[in-house]
Amino acid sequence: MTAADSEPQPLPTVCRTAVWTAEMRADESLAPNPCAIDPWAAEFVTAAGPQGPPPGDAEARAFLHAGVAVRTRYFDDYLIEAVRGGCPQVVLLGAGLDTRAFRLPWPERVDVFEVDLPDLLDFKNRVVAGRVPASARRVTVAADLREAWADALTASGFDPARRTAWLCEGLLAYLEPDEADAVVRTMGEHSPPGSRVGVETATSQGRLSCLRSCRDALSADGAPWRWSLRDPGPWWAERGWRMEQPDPASLPYAAERLAPYLPLLREAGDTGGWLLTGTRCGSG
Ligand SMILES: C[S@@+](CC[C@H](N)C(=O)[O-])C[C@H]1O[C@@H](n2cnc3c(N)ncnc32)[C@H](O)[C@@H]1O
Repeated sequence: MTAADSEPQPLPTVCRTAVWTAEMRADESLAPNPCAIDPWAAEFVTAAGPQGPPPGDAEARAFLHAGVAVRTRYFDDYLIEAVRGGCPQVVLLGAGLDTRAFRLPWPERVDVFEVDLPDLLDFKNRVVAGRVPASARRVTVAADLREAWADALTASGFDPARRTAWLCEGLLAYLEPDEADAVVRTMGEHSPPGSRVGVETATSQGRLSCLRSCRDALSADGAPWRWSLRDPGPWWAERGWRMEQPDPASLPYAAERLAPYLPLLREAGDTGGWLLTGTRCGSG
């Protein structure tokens, strides 16, 4: 092996977004009153080596950090509740460096499928090599979600007849609208009634002035934010999901963190619907 083989290689930009997200979770883990603690996040950041600074200026990064902190806790709670409510399998689409398979106190043994691009999963699996979650079966599925991916998921042991808790966190914005639509329709085709979904939707980030530097940097780097919805509820309803849309600022752990940003969101005409959870319609 040469020295170059052991050097961390730069990941494609869209995968580097997972490292930047892990960096925010590592910082959050050390903050007073953290929304969530991720003991593995710093390890990923160290292992990734220099990947370039997170995009955007300090204002954008502070906003994104608050958003990542809140959404991590929100989706932690959602997944635990979904498993407790009868979903024995979890699928993390665009899983990135999510460590929920390891770190969540699953109420029962659960299958956790992590779907992401091969480069990202190769890196992640090198870092977590040899570690086994205490109460989950962790399965990684290397796939490009812009292409047909459901067969790879099923081939890895996912059972489309069982209820599933899906999560699309920090993912759909990186897809073209028709690609995001196809991902959601494929989820629906593999979800018996009562399955759950958690999703982060870009509702106003395209108009938020404090995110302009981040938006521009990601676009220049080849991973622009492409997809957003102004009014997510009806869009999901058309695709067979009944969505709930909490006001994140009303969540006890989020109120203080988001307070400085509420005027900016209002100014951008934010309609809510940033963090959503939903249930697959139908009887069964
Ligand atoms: C911002 S990160 C979010 C990661 C993780 N969900 C989290 O919140 O920490 C976006 C992730 O989506 C993945 N991703 C983007 N486009 C993808 C695609 N076409 N197929 C599979 N994964 C994709 C990236 O590799 C990256 O891991």
